[in-house]
Amino acid sequence: MTNQSKQKVHAARKAIEYVEDGMVLGLGTGSTMDVFLDLLGERVQAGLQIKGVPTSVKTEQKAKQLGIPLTTLSDHPKLDLAFDGADEIDPDFQLTKGGGGSLLREKMVDVTAKQFIVVADESKMVNQLGAFPLPVEVVKFGWDSIREQLEALGCDAVLREVDGLPFETDNDQFIIDCHFHQIENPHMLRDQIKSIVGVVEVGLFLDMTDIVLVGVDEEVIIYE
Ligand code: 5RP
Repeated sequence: MTNQSKQKVHAARKAIEYVEDGMVLGLGTGSTMDVFLDLLGERVQAGLQIKGVPTSVKTEQKAKQLGIPLTTLSDHPKLDLAFDGADEIDPDFQLTKGGGGSLLREKMVDVTAKQFIVVADESKMVNQLGAFPLPVEVVKFGWDSIREQLEALGCDAVLREVDGLPFETDNDQFIIDCHFHQIENPHMLRDQIKSIVGVVEVGLFLDMTDIVLVGVDEEVIIYE
């Protein structure tokens, strides 16, 4: 197991400690969340009573395989806790997310939780957002015009592809990855991007984080 993988396991183990009987949880997406789901599945098999709202089809399928009971935002519009990974975490705990392409459902779920807990390995901690290309979910109609408007904000904007074909999200939309390299003002950029007609959501998760659990070697650093 790589050091990074071990850090994800340490952080996920700590995250599980926040879960209590009867809670309704937001279940994030990504490799760190996969570890968390495995641990949560073990706890459910041992008798823990929780329900989860998945943030992607992938997480939904994995949760079902593990026997984790699922519910919806319609049935539970206010969640107790949401757990999710991140692509970048800055010193103010502002995040870039969407590397896995699930940013829309992730933001919809994470924002409804009483506490949003970010679970990550130490590589995700950065001094400034932007080195990781910023994912933007857009409608398919006129996507190239949206891409040009994103580039006018000062980035190289690239349609995400898999095996030479456009990547399609769980919502049947496209992702454009915006290479800003440095994001000086995340709030202003978020507002500028969201004002482009055809943009559905942007992977800047601002002023949402309550707790960050960062796996570092054999321990976990907790920021609250
Ligand atoms: C998916 C995400 C993930 O949370 C993010 O990409 C981190 O993933 P990982 O835990 O695999 O590093 O935003 O859309």
